[in-house]
Amino acid sequence: MKKIFIFDTTLRDGEQVPGCQLNTQEKLIIAEKLEELGVDIIEAGFPISSPGDFQSIVEISKKIKKPIICALTRAKKEDIDCAAESLKFAKRKRIHTGIGASDIHIKYKFKSTREKILEQAIWAVKYAKKFVNDVEFYAEDAGRADNQFLAKMVEEVIKAGATVVNIPDTTGYCLPNEFGHKIKYLAENVKNIDKAIISVHCHNDLGLATANTLSGILNGARQVETTINGIGERAGNAAMEEIVMIIKTKKLNFSTNINTKKIYQTSQLVSKMMRMPIQKNKAIVGENAFAHSSGIHQDGLIKKRENYEIINPKDIGLDESKIILTARSGRAALKYRLKKLSYKITNKNLDLIYQEFLKLADQIKQVDDRNLRQLMLKFQKN
Ligand code: KIV
Ligand code: ZN
Repeated sequence: MKKIFIFDTTLRDGEQVPGCQLNTQEKLIIAEKLEELGVDIIEAGFPISSPGDFQSIVEISKKIKKPIICALTRAKKEDIDCAAESLKFAKRKRIHTGIGASDIHIKYKFKSTREKILEQAIWAVKYAKKFVNDVEFYAEDAGRADNQFLAKMVEEVIKAGATVVNIPDTTGYCLPNEFGHKIKYLAENVKNIDKAIISVHCHNDLGLATANTLSGILNGARQVETTINGIGERAGNAAMEEIVMIIKTKKLNFSTNINTKKIYQTSQLVSKMMRMPIQKNKAIVGENAFAHSSGIHQDGLIKKRENYEIINPKDIGLDESKIILTARSGRAALKYRLKKLSYKITNKNLDLIYQEFLKLADQIKQVDDRNLRQLMLKFQKN
């Protein structure tokens, strides 16, 4: 099995989201949880951006021992100096530096040329190498970059000492086949690619971050940059829980270090601390991801869970699936729930109870255990 390294950027790309800013104490709590979860690399922040972010990286570096601690920089001396300083206590450290690779970034963001950008990229990697062995280079907006130029850039930064080359789809623009082709092109055309790990960092502007990340893995990437709950700039980043559970559920020939049983609690912690609610129908960790409400589905699920679930909720740390009782539920679900509440029901009785249940469900929409007990009082008196 090929190992996929999980590079978690919840505390950097995720934390950039308006309203999601964390103080050092909060960042530390999440970093400890990420270590427990088993991520390989924690991107702890962008140290030059603020004294608070710098201090968070210092404290995370002191406390977290298993994952590599990574700090982001632009391809600038002051950024790299600051990152090196912020990582001074880290047992395992990485500087993540980079620059734009697409013509649109080169022309309009940097007002520069491909040649000058290439020089700066090489310089930044060499400079970062003075402080740490492990240097990751990001070719920003690689999703829209010309593949030939990108290949040249990747080859040169590896020559300069980059240990990981990050190919971000910064604007979430690529289709999965385009992005996969880009990774394959680099894997096949960069002479020294065996000297570095290819990483993918996909944004979700078109809802394709997970699909593109997966396509990256299938075409040669060995590191994925993800966040918990898919939190990140604009529409977010690829969600860690989705990638890991795809690999597990589809039994792909890859392995990760993630202890999937910690996924749900980590997701809840990040959502609470970052004040970012999780969409109810979010894959894997949404409130409804293991909730069943239609009668047909509930009946099938009660007969055999696998009829309607491809993931065992226990695998992500949940006790069990939820059967939601509504006016769309059938007798099987009602009987199942009543049995759980220790009521003994005959088939004749069930029909009567079911009619009353439907009337109640039409009124109140969702019938919970308290409502059911109330309803059963009526039948027990008679
Ligand atoms: O989306 C992006 O390109 C980034 C880089 C800084 C890696 O977040
Ligand atoms: Zn990003």
